[in-house]
Amino acid sequence: MELLSALNWRYATKKMNGEKVDQNLVDQILEAAYLAPTSSGLQPFQVFVISNEELKEKIKPIAYNQSQITDASHVLVFAAWDNYTEERISTVFTRMVTERNMPEEAVADYKNNLIAMYTPRPAEVNFDHAARQSYIGFGMAIAAAAELKVDATPMEGFVADQLDELLGLREKGLRSTTILTLGYRDAANDWLVNLKKVRTPKEEFLTILD
Ligand SMILES: Cc1cc2nc3c(=O)[nH]c(=O)nc-3n(C[C@H](O)[C@H](O)[C@H](O)COP(=O)(O)O)c2cc1C
Repeated sequence: MELLSALNWRYATKKMNGEKVDQNLVDQILEAAYLAPTSSGLQPFQVFVISNEELKEKIKPIAYNQSQITDASHVLVFAAWDNYTEERISTVFTRMVTERNMPEEAVADYKNNLIAMYTPRPAEVNFDHAARQSYIGFGMAIAAAAELKVDATPMEGFVADQLDELLGLREKGLRSTTILTLGYRDAANDWLVNLKKVRTPKEEFLTILD
């Protein structure tokens, strides 16, 4: 399977060379994140696509000065809904029935159950759930980048509150969850590039229940 060789090729790039990634490739990576499945199809996250050099310079200290932020071509910030609301959930279901040409009643029970289940919960619980959905898109983007031979660094190493402030995310009802830098490896200067990929032994990772 081609995907497996791509996943073996990829690694969390530590040093990028500043080369730009074609917009066409960035678009395909974004499309993979966009097509990610999410719980009840709520898609409770957005992606901010940053190529502006000044903005990347401002993000770098927030990401503990990791050089990939400024050496990358594009910095993707995944940001999840800060809470579930009746309005947010209803919007998704209205879109679904409209685009599928179905009556509202076809999804009314499902929608109302979700609203009844999610909206009384603390915002932090709902944000955690939305954040998990954002990681599905993040994973898809990582795999898509690998398939396109675009290097990427998945990152949680940043101060989310500061990034939210810089990008004005809280005003939009969003909180940053992860960063994915896109670019090309600087193989001569990346200490990780030739190191073996290490994973938990398969017999610990997998439990086969025949
Ligand atoms: C959610 C997440 C957060 C990560 N945060 C960082 C980070 O802030 N900086 C970094 O250099 N690598 C980061 N990594 C990379 C991991 O350390 C790396 O994926 C892991 O060691 C496995 O190695 P590989 O990706 O090269 O196969 C992160 C990876 C994930 C999935």
